Amino acid sequence: MRTGRSLRQRGAPALVDYCEQMRYRVLARARLVAEQTARREAQQMAQIKSDFISMMSHELRTPLNSIIGFSEILAQPSTFVNDSDRVNYAQLINSSGKHLTSVVNGILEMSKIQSGTYQVTLAPTNLIEILSDVVATMEVVAHKSGVALETDWGTEEVVVKVDDTRLLQSVRNIVENAIKFTERGGRVTVGCHLNMQGAGVITVSDTGVGMDEAELARAMTPFGQAGQGISGDAGGSGLGLCIAKELTQLQHGRFSIRSAKGEGTTVTFTFGEPSHQMAAAGGGDEQAAGESRTQQLRKAVSSHVGH
Ligand SMILES: Nc1ncnc2c1ncn2[C@@H]1O[C@H](COP(=O)(O)OP(=O)(O)O)[C@@H](O)[C@H]1O
Ligand SMILES: [Mg+2]
Repeated sequence: MRTGRSLRQRGAPALVDYCEQMRYRVLARARLVAEQTARREAQQMAQIKSDFISMMSHELRTPLNSIIGFSEILAQPSTFVNDSDRVNYAQLINSSGKHLTSVVNGILEMSKIQSGTYQVTLAPTNLIEILSDVVATMEVVAHKSGVALETDWGTEEVVVKVDDTRLLQSVRNIVENAIKFTERGGRVTVGCHLNMQGAGVITVSDTGVGMDEAELARAMTPFGQAGQGISGDAGGSGLGLCIAKELTQLQHGRFSIRSAKGEGTTVTFTFGEPSHQMAAAGGGDEQAAGESRTQQLRKAVSSHVGH
């Protein structure tokens, strides 16, 4: 305004008009860009929602079809089914039922996470105690699968702020995966240490089948499964990795996964990292960008799973 008045005083009305026109054009352009961005975001959101619904329906329908189909055959008095087929069909019904349970549980879990009803209570915790519990509960599974379950930590406590229940749940998911995708004779190692910044680092490494880049990207999407488990069937919901990552982020932690086909996989959780806590409070860049996608997914899940 001051510039405009002084220009007018100097008798340059045409220049003032020109400046105002430019200002108007810049504002109009900014408005247009904002509208286009909002429209694009709305379209992306609609796409995410529809992808999520179709994935969810597929995941629910597949085991349901097996249950209905095989139970109909068994219930049909006129159809002859020999003993070995009967057992086979009953086992398929049973495994489909279990699969359905894990899919429904996974969806409810994701829904709970995004709805904000998850109580996360961060308190100073010795990570090694939690990991010892996880290892103790997974030892039987590892033994049955012929996989050695080892630990790698020192005598020092690793105390950082986490939610012990959520941490246990996330790490157990990851150790379960590590065992499931490692052949007999392989090894799963759960490690823990304090890094130079005083953050608590947990690693779960396996010598299993590993994933290439495309498989890893697929594995990190909801319901995404890179391949079959060692026992032939991947089982599970394909939501375990997403849930573990979400739960880690709820605790202001960082979740990362590295994998190489045929060489194994390492998942790393980092808790109590000063820079990441700042990012969680709104100052981050890379992480914040990653989370906006997660938040979109949360919204998509929330509006379709219901809670
Ligand atoms: N440690 C691992 N080694 C190889 N593949 C893995 C590992 N962990 C996860 N995956 C792949 O990622 C997919 C998704 O894992 P997850 O989200 O836990 O779902 P689920 O275990 O229910 O299949 C798995 O089906 C598998 O293909
Ligand atoms: Mg899993």
